[in-house]
Amino acid sequence: MPVVVIHREGQTHQGEVKDNSNLVVMAGIRQFPHPHLRYGCGMGKCCRCASRVLKGAEHLPEPNWKEKKQLGPRLDEGYRLICQLWITHDLELEQDKTPLTPAAAAGA
Ligand code: FES
Repeated sequence: MPVVVIHREGQTHQGEVKDNSNLVVMAGIRQFPHPHLRYGCGMGKCCRCASRVLKGAEHLPEPNWKEKKQLGPRLDEGYRLICQLWITHDLELEQDKTPLTPAAAAGA
């Protein structure tokens, strides 16, 4: 089972999830990573779930069109929309203190 590590606001949280889990869906049903993952719409629109992937990015699929639209150049900095990912391997990520603004809203 994949092990997920989340860094947020100076704290580190670690847990196992079932193979092929969506972390926003899991948090939504109050399982790990609840309550440590910040998220919102679950549909790739709000950017509240955006996280910088520290380890395991090589196992993730290519960003989909929603991630490209919302994250723009921040994809190159390692950011992904966690609600758009199904986790099959260990993953370590960090959420900024302040949620990202969607690139579309920022005019990028
Ligand atoms: S939860 Fe809104 S973009 Fe991921």
